[in-house]
Amino acid sequence: MAKEYPKANYKEYRESRNPYAPKIRELELAPGPKTILVDESSEKNRGEWRKFFARDGLLNLELGAYHGETSIHLASNAPENLHVAIEWKFKQCYKAGKKARDKDLENLTFLRANIARLPWVFAPGELDRVWILFPDPWSKTNQQKWRLLQPGFFHMLGALLKEGKELLIKTDHADYAAFIAESLQEANCFSPMDKELAASRWALIPPTPFERIFMRQGKQMHSFALVRNANPVKPPEEVQQVLAGS
Ligand SMILES: C[S@@+](CC[C@H](N)C(=O)[O-])C[C@H]1O[C@@H](n2cnc3c(N)ncnc32)[C@H](O)[C@@H]1O
Repeated sequence: MAKEYPKANYKEYRESRNPYAPKIRELELAPGPKTILVDESSEKNRGEWRKFFARDGLLNLELGAYHGETSIHLASNAPENLHVAIEWKFKQCYKAGKKARDKDLENLTFLRANIARLPWVFAPGELDRVWILFPDPWSKTNQQKWRLLQPGFFHMLGALLKEGKELLIKTDHADYAAFIAESLQEANCFSPMDKELAASRWALIPPTPFERIFMRQGKQMHSFALVRNANPVKPPEEVQQVLAGS
C-alpha cells in the first residue's frame, strides 16, 4: 500500500485558466467580510489567524469543504468560534465564499488552496479542531498514492495541533477507513477521543452533501474522533523546514 504523498503536491501556486479564477479573485478583493482567500493569499496569515479575525476564539479547520455547507453551519451555530475551510476546486470554493458573504459571516473564511500546503497556512499548534469529511478515497490501486490520510500527513497535522486538540474524520469507504486506521497506528500521534465527547462533536454537524448521497445508497459510515497525544511527530521532509521556521 502506497504511504508516501507525492512530492509534487507541495508545490507553489500557478496562475489558473479555470473560468472561476477571475470571479473568485473579484470576490476576494470585494469590500466587506473576507470570506475568501485565494492561493498565495491563503498563506499570509500564518500564525496570525486570530489577528485576521480580529479576536480570539477556538479555531476550527475543515479540509475539503466543497460548497461550504458544513463550515457555514458550524460558523453560524458557533459565532464565538473561528472557522477556516479549504477547498481546491474554484467553482465550489467560489460558491462557498459567496454564501458566507451573503450571510455576513465574519468568523469564517474559505481558502482556495491545496491541503498539502497546510504548513504554509498555519503555524505549529495554531489549530484547535480539524474536520475531514468524506475525503476522496482514490479507490484504484494505482491512485492510492494520492490518498491524503497517510502517516506523514498525520505527522504534519500533529505538528499543527497541540496535545489534547481534536481531529474528526468520516468516510463511507471501507477500504480507505482501513487504510486510515493503519496510517493512524503507524503515525502514533493521535488517540481515540472519549466516547461521550466524540458523540457531542459529531452532534455539531448535520450529514454533509456527500454523506447524504451515501446514506441514500445505504452505505455504512466509518468515523474517527481523535485527540492529539503527547508522542513526537516527524512530518515529511518537504515541510519540516517550513514548520521549523515558525
Ligand atoms: C468527496 S468530496 C467531500 C466534500 C464534503 N466534505 C462532503 O462531505 O460533502 C472531497 C472534497 O475535497 C476536495 N479536495 C480534495 N483534495 C483536495 C486538496 N488537496 N486540497 C483542497 N481540497 C481538496 C475536493 O475538491 C472535494 O470538494
